[in-house]
Amino acid sequence: MLRTVSRLSRRRIRSRLGTLRVKYSGLSGSYAISVGAGLIDSIGERLRSILSARTRRVALISNRKVYGLFGAQLESGLKHSGWEVPTWLLGDGERHKSLASFERALRFFSEHGLERTDCVVSLGGGVVGDLAGFAAATYLRGVAFVQVPTTLLSQIDSSIGGKVGVNSEFGKNLIGAFHHPRAVFIDTDTLLTLPRRELVAGWCEAIKQGAIGSRPLFKRTVKYLETFGLLNSCGASAELEQLIAAQCAFKSGIVARDEREDPNRVDAKSRRILNFGHTVGHALETATDYRRFRHGEAVGIGMLVAGEIGKRLGITPQAELKSLHAAVKLLGRLPRTDDVEPAHVMSLLQRDKKSVDGSINWILLDRLGLANIVDGKDIPPGIVKGSIRSVLASC
Ligand SMILES: NC(=O)c1ccc[n+]([C@@H]2O[C@H](COP(=O)([O-])OP(=O)(O)OC[C@H]3O[C@@H](n4cnc5c(N)ncnc54)[C@H](O)[C@@H]3O)[C@@H](O)[C@H]2O)c1
Ligand SMILES: [Zn+2]
Repeated sequence: MLRTVSRLSRRRIRSRLGTLRVKYSGLSGSYAISVGAGLIDSIGERLRSILSARTRRVALISNRKVYGLFGAQLESGLKHSGWEVPTWLLGDGERHKSLASFERALRFFSEHGLERTDCVVSLGGGVVGDLAGFAAATYLRGVAFVQVPTTLLSQIDSSIGGKVGVNSEFGKNLIGAFHHPRAVFIDTDTLLTLPRRELVAGWCEAIKQGAIGSRPLFKRTVKYLETFGLLNSCGASAELEQLIAAQCAFKSGIVARDEREDPNRVDAKSRRILNFGHTVGHALETATDYRRFRHGEAVGIGMLVAGEIGKRLGITPQAELKSLHAAVKLLGRLPRTDDVEPAHVMSLLQRDKKSVDGSINWILLDRLGLANIVDGKDIPPGIVKGSIRSVLASC
């Protein structure tokens, strides 16, 4: 149920609204990420100073479920600001992040006469954001794009950094573009309706971001989970808003230093460290036909495998790995893995290896807050296999 917040408390909450500015190398140079409870109501008003005076249409892309929860609120604010708001609803689920949906989105823009000075707004999780952003990146060679992410994962991760795209027969996320949003509006109230497993998936990525780049962020994330569980049951909290803002600041900081994920970079600040836990995570998703895990949950287990590999190589101290396990444990039981064959996961990693120049770059941890990219050629296969076996058997 959507929590109703009284006018007074909304106003008070709004006054705490945090905004951070993300710089990038594009023509317009930067965009703001705003975080606050009840923010959806004021997006129309806020966008007026961001969009061109010539903007006439703001095309809204969402899915039925999310639109049913927050669409009317957002749409009425946008209309109140004087724009036409044609709306298109995508099917719900990863399979709709497809070339077919992309083409439908372009047709929808064309049928509604969207022009270069118009804007596309996405309301939803990463699936809606990635698809809407890719359509915005390509239609008329790029129109303005605004993200209103409504899952924890999309609020701290996918809405920031400009990567947009679709899945295809060639693989997941392999067709896409870099197209930064003009603004990101994160209304933390939207998390109140988010199913438990979606929260878990988002928290796994939040733990990841702390683990690879910032011990204080890791500690703060753990403290929130210890204090409030997956979500403060009283709804919006200053702690949650501040933590989400800190997570966004971390992600945008990484992106700012390596906007296009330079494939030659292997330093501890390169964008590819965001893939911590993803090598094994992707293999687990594939091994279970994308039916068992939410992506973030698979990453949660993948992080433990990477931690174990680091420990066995003598890179990650035992105590640090223990803290990582304790953090993941705060999220409750993740989907079972004891029936997944380690040999199957290994064979999927081998396949992955072929697509990345003969060897995998493993993101490991020197300690919590400091990633270390290690060439797979330097890791004995027995260590990888043993680590996978021991983590899968214990989850
Ligand atoms: N572009 C990037 O940099 C980047 C980074 C990470 C992930 N991604 C992509 O993000 C996608 C995953 O995003 P996701 O985890 O947000 O999943 P999602 O978009 O599928 O959303 C998860 C589910 O939650 C529902 N939902 C969304 N908001 C809700 C709310 N407030 N209340 C109730 N239900 C709600 C959705 O309808 C959906 O059923 C993947 O496609 C992944 O590839 C992209
Ligand atoms: Zn991820």
